[in-house]
Amino acid sequence: MHNARVTPCIIRAALPSDEPVWHELWGGYCDFYGARLEDEVTRRTWKRILDPDSAVMCIVAEVEGRVVGFAHCVVHENTWETQAVCYLEDLFVVPAARGRGIGGALIEWLRNAMRAEGWARLYWMTKADNAEARRLYDRFTHADDFVRYVIRQK
Ligand SMILES: CC(C)(COP(=O)(O)OP(=O)(O)OC[C@H]1O[C@@H](n2cnc3c(N)ncnc32)[C@H](O)[C@@H]1OP(=O)(O)O)[C@@H](O)C(=O)NCCC(=O)NCCS
Repeated sequence: MHNARVTPCIIRAALPSDEPVWHELWGGYCDFYGARLEDEVTRRTWKRILDPDSAVMCIVAEVEGRVVGFAHCVVHENTWETQAVCYLEDLFVVPAARGRGIGGALIEWLRNAMRAEGWARLYWMTKADNAEARRLYDRFTHADDFVRYVIRQK
């Protein structure tokens, strides 16, 4: 699936020792979206990631001992299948490591986990104009024609 620019990387579940680098990368991801999150949100997200009883999971991509990317997922029940499904909520690779197959390796790992865990599907969304991300996603599947509606409490 990947081309000659692919960099070998290790994909693994996040560990407590990843906290500093995860914070750095999470900050980069929030900046990408121009988002400013309360520290409380970030603290809670990291806590959920490490909690085996939480539906939130995080995998990281490591190149030569350095974590350079992550994916956050939420595994949840649904009304259309008997099995759980996996929502890929966040995907990020540091700018210096992009275009070398790391984002693809994170998704590929999740696709394998889907089979191993028995999830009925792995799904995600992105902004329609996120061309870089969509080039990557189009290698895995094609976008359907659902659109997103959101009502916020505040
Ligand atoms: C989307 C993202 C995770 C992709 O990660 P990545 O490690 O660059 O992904 P890959 O290298 O596996 O694939 C990237 C594809 O996009 C293109 N691409 C992206 N960045 C590139 C770069 N800096 N140089 C060259 N090609 C690039 C390539 O065409 C490549 O496809 P190809 O290998 O088939 O040609 C990364 O660009 C990122 O973190 N973007 C900012 C956050 C974001 O948009 N996240 C997704 C939100 S839904």
